[in-house]
Amino acid sequence: MKFLGLLSTSRVALALSVLHANLVLAANSFAGSNLYYAAGLSGSERATLLSGMQSAGMKVLRVWLDGESTATTKATTITTYPDLEPVTVGTYNDTVLDLLDDFMLDSYNYGIKLLISMHSWNALSRPGIYGQWYGTDDFYEQAQPQEEFDNRLVHVLNHVHSTLGTPWKTMGQYIFGFEAENEAMIGNGQQYIVDHQSWQCDRAATIKGQLGDNSGILVLTGGEWLAQLAQAADKMLLFEEWGSCYFNTSNNDCPTGTPLDASTRNTNIETWASQITAAGMPWLYWEILPNADPHYSYDYEIGIGDPAWSTLEAAAQAALQAPAAFDYSQYLL
Ligand SMILES: *[C@@H]1O[C@H](CO)[C@@H](O)[C@H](O)[C@H]1NC(C)=O
Ligand SMILES: *[C@@H]1O[C@H](CO)[C@@H](O)[C@H](O)[C@H]1NC(C)=O
Repeated sequence: MKFLGLLSTSRVALALSVLHANLVLAANSFAGSNLYYAAGLSGSERATLLSGMQSAGMKVLRVWLDGESTATTKATTITTYPDLEPVTVGTYNDTVLDLLDDFMLDSYNYGIKLLISMHSWNALSRPGIYGQWYGTDDFYEQAQPQEEFDNRLVHVLNHVHSTLGTPWKTMGQYIFGFEAENEAMIGNGQQYIVDHQSWQCDRAATIKGQLGDNSGILVLTGGEWLAQLAQAADKMLLFEEWGSCYFNTSNNDCPTGTPLDASTRNTNIETWASQITAAGMPWLYWEILPNADPHYSYDYEIGIGDPAWSTLEAAAQAALQAPAAFDYSQYLL
């Protein structure tokens, strides 16, 4: 995956997301994690991941809908699944939604809700079907792809859970929030994001129109937002992605390098997590794996049982005990 939106320190990658709800004070923080291929996990991998997260007191797992296979994971063997719109815009293959139906029953039992990212810049720029048809500018600028993408959002929000029989948009017990796209516009640059804020607002309006006023489900931007604007608009904030590099590489460039010794990395994790928590910001780590980290490609991951796991676990537990600038309590299990 790709990261931008940087804290003022090296070896940390952050993506900031904005929630559409009011700012309040004096509630506790929380932590969680990301796993872009969570839908493909086997039952035993799920149990490993979710029980580990639960023991860390983590409350939210952010998941994706773009097709994945074992070739694109971090050494996790997964069930391959296709893109939601694999061949044609508007023709859906619901495999990923059905897999997540099952996943969310499990995660609920571990006290963890899903944050569902309904598309990603990564898929757009791969290019997936929207990228093939429209490219990475027209997708955000033209009326037709916006209407078609809104149809996708409506499709997901109205997906009927395969065993419970209820549409996702009513399943706030299982679902923390929805966002239209992970890292929307990220590759088009900061000015482009500033100039096309209406894309975010329009997509949020589509999602909110489906959710109604009492769903208990949040609407997020999926990163790439600007903290001052968010504060001015009285929105809640969440660090959706941050990770501590396994290597000693600087400037958030973490695909290769010399491994840090374990105690140095642990100190980094502890320091940065506690700084984010002290700033009053809940956070989701990038990423926790159900298997040992293979140290493959961009390497911010921590496998459950890896040398850094107990440090991350303690940092997440600390978040749960710390005050936050925003009250998410009604959205968490
Ligand atoms: C959806 O994807 C699954 C998994 O790849 C495949 O088996 C199935 O045939 C697809 N369904 C349709 C309608 O194309
Ligand atoms: C990483 O460690 C290697 C080996 O000690 C060293 O040569 C290199 O300068 C370090 N890189 C950074 C960015 O600190």
